[in-house]
Amino acid sequence: MTSRVPVITIDGLSASGKGTVATSVSLKLGWNLLDSGLLYRVVAFLVAEYELQYEDEKAIAELVERKVRIQYSTTGIQASSLKESRELRDSVMVVSDSLHRKTVQWNGEDVTSIVRGNDISRGAAVVAASRTIRAVLIPKQRDQRVEPGLVADGRDMGTVIFPDAQLKIFLQASLETRTRRRMAQLGAADTHASFRRVFQSLKDRDERDSLREVAPAIPATDAIRLDSSELSVDETVAIVMREARDRNIIEG
Ligand code: C5P
Repeated sequence: MTSRVPVITIDGLSASGKGTVATSVSLKLGWNLLDSGLLYRVVAFLVAEYELQYEDEKAIAELVERKVRIQYSTTGIQASSLKESRELRDSVMVVSDSLHRKTVQWNGEDVTSIVRGNDISRGAAVVAASRTIRAVLIPKQRDQRVEPGLVADGRDMGTVIFPDAQLKIFLQASLETRTRRRMAQLGAADTHASFRRVFQSLKDRDERDSLREVAPAIPATDAIRLDSSELSVDETVAIVMREARDRNIIEG
């Protein structure tokens, strides 16, 4: 890989805060942002839409090849252009606005909340264990490396997708902290039962993601491990920015 476009990778387990930190860093730098987890979610969404079996990896990979597009736009895709273009209408579009908020559109409909939901989280972790499916997503992710730079958020950004990244962060936080964060994100009731439920689903996903054979969620050997359990988002972002300045990736 010879690309000189700078990349900062922010990997970590579910609800480690990497999405929030990656978004903030990318906005501060004015760089592109790749939310790779969203792609695995989109695949799980397609599996459900087309009623495919998770074992049918080849059919899923083919579908992904044909249907998944990532588009960056300050205004979003207009409903009118979706109506006009059969090609767009027939694709799952991941669209990002100028604040790096992503929406997922399918057949002219906004399906973002379904794709971000809990059912799809489980499906995403299943499809993510497939080597065949991961392979078709590799070019779609590397294509996002464009000037002036990219912040890439995921599980294998530093190990597999951008092994030559200029700065690699592996964000950690205790399972308890991550459970609290996910509960807040989901707007879940503050009860013991809901804590147990979210705790268990994160634990299951941690195991699936970090023990799988292909692209496990583990830190790259040259990654900085950053524990954010006791840090605010601003403090975590400040550390990432300082590391980027120390490496002369950014000026300042
Ligand atoms: O980050 P998010 O929770 O949206 O990711 C959903 C799932 O996608 C993860 O649980 C993981 O199984 C998978 N994933 C992955 N590699 C990435 C990003 C996400 O395997 N780079």
